[in-house]
Amino acid sequence: MSLFVKKSLDQLLSQAENNSSGLKRTLGAGNLIALGIGAIIGAGLFVRTAAAAGQAAGPAVTISFIVAAIGCAFAGLCYAEFAAMIPIAGSAYTYSYTTMGELVAWIIGWALIMEYALGAATVSIAWSEYLNKLFGGRIPYEWCHSPFESFTDSMGVLHSGIINAPALIILLLLTLLLIKGTQESAIVNMIIVIVKVSIVVLFIVLGWQFINSANHTPYFIPEGTAPLVDSAGKVVADYSGVFKHGWGGVLGGAAIVFFAFIGFDAVSTAAQEAKNPKRDMPIGILGSLLVCTVLYILFAHVLTGVAPWQDFVDPEKGREASVAYAISTYMTGYGWLAKAVTVAILAGFSSVILVMLMGQSRIFYTMSNDGLIPKAFGEIHPKYKTPYKANWILFVFVGLFAAFVPGNVAGDLTSFGTLFAFVLVSIGVWILRVKNPTINRPFRAPLVPIVSTLGALVCAGMIIALDKQTLKVAFAWMLLGLVIYFLYSRHNSKLRVPSDILPKASDFEKQ
Ligand code: ALA
Repeated sequence: MSLFVKKSLDQLLSQAENNSSGLKRTLGAGNLIALGIGAIIGAGLFVRTAAAAGQAAGPAVTISFIVAAIGCAFAGLCYAEFAAMIPIAGSAYTYSYTTMGELVAWIIGWALIMEYALGAATVSIAWSEYLNKLFGGRIPYEWCHSPFESFTDSMGVLHSGIINAPALIILLLLTLLLIKGTQESAIVNMIIVIVKVSIVVLFIVLGWQFINSANHTPYFIPEGTAPLVDSAGKVVADYSGVFKHGWGGVLGGAAIVFFAFIGFDAVSTAAQEAKNPKRDMPIGILGSLLVCTVLYILFAHVLTGVAPWQDFVDPEKGREASVAYAISTYMTGYGWLAKAVTVAILAGFSSVILVMLMGQSRIFYTMSNDGLIPKAFGEIHPKYKTPYKANWILFVFVGLFAAFVPGNVAGDLTSFGTLFAFVLVSIGVWILRVKNPTINRPFRAPLVPIVSTLGALVCAGMIIALDKQTLKVAFAWMLLGLVIYFLYSRHNSKLRVPSDILPKASDFEKQ
């Protein structure tokens, strides 16, 4: 049978309607926007904004946010069309199963593990760092770092990481919450979203009066800017590269802040739990993207106005915990805000991890229903109606990364997995428009194929701009996925071995 065997759309839709024994439909439009914001605002805003300003874009990091948002908006429109049309758990994986066939669906499902599972690991590692900051650095280095990290203290003593225990603990707590129920998780997420959005707005409003226009002049990092060196004379930032100053720096900054937008697509993984997916999916995806873009631009404007961007690369100034640094250094009388920001960041990171874990477990659930991964991933808890076994397996997998792998390694792979999914979803929308033009599309992405082509191109461009090491590891991961597909999934696919879940072989299209 062909590698490109496809799921029929009718089958998918009846599967969604006949949902009595599966996931519960409990989420409204408000919950979905909150789910999106919950996944979006996190380390990207609170950590990467300052990094992008200091390393590449200067105050024009505001424009970097606009560039990254445009790329995401193209892909977001395509996601919205699919999510309204095929309101089934599984997101990009499910969409590609109907448009490009099983092999591509498997590849994308495998790439999505990088986005969601490694994304959750990355943010839980950042969570651990900020918790330690809140405790004044009192957590012993050994217990909050991976074995691949070490540092020599001022007494000359070498400390090596053993395990990142706080990262594991936050993952465990959120896994338990997810098993308890989608509705409960949505309520906790909603509370966290209110807290973090309030803090972001508060920073924008209170910080506005501390904007020093000298910090915004010039707006771009000028060509020929001398490298910045630390007190020991070591270069900490070099502005000679094409993507390190001027308009090129804006693009370089966009690649850095792209991480801040990852997550809006997570809304689409919960399609099977939405009360009215046809109407609410586009609202959830595009609404959360819009709200975050506006907040990001204002936030970046204030941050680079309050503190000079040079501070954000200086290890002795605002290179770490940059937002808290800017407040405590330049906003006299607002020390409390610096503490509140740290607490909001911890809460914010928690909801990012929560939605990432939820998204991944829903993708596992769907892949398991299709027979591509073992059945255990699809088992629903009899009382809580959540895919609890998938949640536990995920905890072990994500936990291993969180406990033993440095954050930056997991972070870059997250971007790869996300961009890869964006490219395939953008192409998929177009393919389905051509192959199945008459199907009911409650939401239509405008100007297809222009929008879908631009979405694919912008995201492919960002993949190329990732560093070589990341691309090598990502390639190895994808290769491993192919081996598993040919050894296991291909032989267990329900499309090939029809079972009780998929009643008749004739329900499926073949190519
Ligand atoms: N967008 C998410 C964050 O910034 C991944 O943490």
